Amino acid sequence: MARKIVITSGKGGVGKTTICAGLGRALAKVGTKVCMIDLDTQLNNLDCALGVENKVVFDIVDVVSGRVRCTQAILKICDNLFLLPSCQGFLSNALTKEKLSKIFNILDEIFEVILIDSPAGLEEGFLKAINNASESIIVAAPHIYSIRDASKTLRVLKENGIELNYLVINRARGDLELSGEEILPVNAAELINAKLIGVIPDEDEIALNGSIYCEPFDILAENLLCGGNQIFDATKKYKGLIGKIKRVFKRA
Ligand SMILES: Nc1ncnc2c1ncn2[C@@H]1O[C@H](COP(=O)(O)OP(=O)(O)O)[C@@H](O)[C@H]1O
Ligand SMILES: [Mg+2]
Repeated sequence: MARKIVITSGKGGVGKTTICAGLGRALAKVGTKVCMIDLDTQLNNLDCALGVENKVVFDIVDVVSGRVRCTQAILKICDNLFLLPSCQGFLSNALTKEKLSKIFNILDEIFEVILIDSPAGLEEGFLKAINNASESIIVAAPHIYSIRDASKTLRVLKENGIELNYLVINRARGDLELSGEEILPVNAAELINAKLIGVIPDEDEIALNGSIYCEPFDILAENLLCGGNQIFDATKKYKGLIGKIKRVFKRA
């Protein structure tokens, strides 16, 4: 039986899709058989984050409308990593909870981890995305309004019976952490009372190459698989003399 983990945040643009892609790659790299399912049916871009947007032949619409079997629509990204893509502008009312549950039952037999990329908001699309999940990763930026959204999201997840909820802080700025201008990831986790399992720095490499940038995702994957507490230190590259110079340039 697969672990079914929904990646969510409340607000859009926080990094759900980026985390889904990066975590998927990191899990696959250590031999975990992963299927990512894009349930952001309005603003889907998990295929882009994985760099496979030109390779998509079938998507979830073809599956729910019965044109192809679920296994035919799944796209292989690399060893151990697969994607069930979504479709731009797809009217999500065709994607009923029953149809989705059938898809999950099939994936459950084949994969060890299913990562569900969810849409923004806490309404219908989100509720469908969490319906088959047993765990969640809440993605938040290290800003108080994002942490507050994460807290509200956590409440709705719990109300819907999902008790295993993790926090990932995305776009952490080590320079701002050191100057005391940004909330520390551990403090964010304490504020909302969720287990911190990852810190992903704000990096151009991530914006440009998405899931190709690795170390913070590797740590996140290890924590998720082994229950570890290791956290990527976003401040490391801003320490020491060279780090100080980098901080000055970052603010310039
Ligand atoms: N850690 C990061 N560093 C730099 N850019 C990031 C990072 N995470 C996400 N982004 C960028 O932020 C934008 C929104 O990310 P996305 O994953 O699409 O958010 P969401 O799925 O929550 O709407 C994208 O342009 C993405 O490349
Ligand atoms: Mg997204």
